[in-house]
Amino acid sequence: MTRLLGLSGSLRAGSVNTALLRAAQSRLPPGVTLEVATPHGIPLYDGDLEAREGVPSAVAALKDKIAASDGVLLATPEYNNGIPGVFKNAIDWLSRPPADAARVFRDRPFAVIGASPGGFGTILAQSAWLPVLRTLGARFWSGGRLMVSRAGQVFDAEGALADPKLGEQLGQFLAGFVAFTNAASTALERWHAIVATRDSNGLDELLADDVVFQSPAVHTPQVGKAITKKYLVAAMHVLDTGQFRYVGEWHAESSAVLEFETTIGDVHVNGVDMISWNAAGQITKFKVMLRPVKALQTVMPLMAQALQGGAPG
Ligand SMILES: Cc1cc2nc3c(=O)[nH]c(=O)nc-3n(C[C@H](O)[C@H](O)[C@H](O)COP(=O)(O)O)c2cc1C
Repeated sequence: MTRLLGLSGSLRAGSVNTALLRAAQSRLPPGVTLEVATPHGIPLYDGDLEAREGVPSAVAALKDKIAASDGVLLATPEYNNGIPGVFKNAIDWLSRPPADAARVFRDRPFAVIGASPGGFGTILAQSAWLPVLRTLGARFWSGGRLMVSRAGQVFDAEGALADPKLGEQLGQFLAGFVAFTNAASTALERWHAIVATRDSNGLDELLADDVVFQSPAVHTPQVGKAITKKYLVAAMHVLDTGQFRYVGEWHAESSAVLEFETTIGDVHVNGVDMISWNAAGQITKFKVMLRPVKALQTVMPLMAQALQGGAPG
């Protein structure tokens, strides 16, 4: 399953850019979903507000949606030959705080489309996004272009796309972007998406058949996809008390160490996941270590219980 997030840069109920994303929802390749989001609820960026209250809840929610996606499609209006302030403001908030920007943007596939009633179909606004996306470290897809001009004539009164040729172009654009997204999606990104969405279904594809799982409590390595999935689902169930978060990441070419923290009751749990993957992007080794001893003592019986009871997958 490939999850795309479509972010429209307009607040208007009758926005042609939001309509373009809605049209995209029915022209996706099989196995792909596209959620449409808008900048509603995001205030004007104000450093004082941020210092006082942190990132607003609408921003935090959108950051999590992007982080859980495999790729992001920006549908940009064009104002005065540039990016509308509303849209740029949203992206600026999403890049805060800087320490969390990589989780949201870095190496994430992005593509830009846009619609305008004028004759040039947002060409300048689309170009203006390039330095922004480069600064954020996003992986920009330049393999296709979609600039919808005379947008007033291509959507009907209900906002549905009424131009079959444009529908075809949109489908082709989406197919290209999805292919790019799937190629770019590493084992680690897919693991993060599973953790963020608490949806363990992707584990069947992500785990190699002969994957080896090593738990902090069990001496014998567990071999195979089924048992590894069982342990990971149980661990997600036990550790994800609403406090679970990754706090550090160290990468090698086909392996990484991810440090996490969580709290169970009043017990602080700190640990690392050591993950290796093969050339096909499937996880071949998954080792978990925990500290301090009190955390291990807390987690062990809960894991045993979750493994016996079959934690909800
Ligand atoms: C302040 C302002 C400036 C605009 N400048 C441009 C422009 O430079 N190029 C263009 O094609 N359309 C321009 N437009 C028209 C927008 O493309 C049009 O309002 C469009 O419907 C906005 O996108 P939306 O329907 O998704 O809200 C401008 C509109 C506004 C309000």
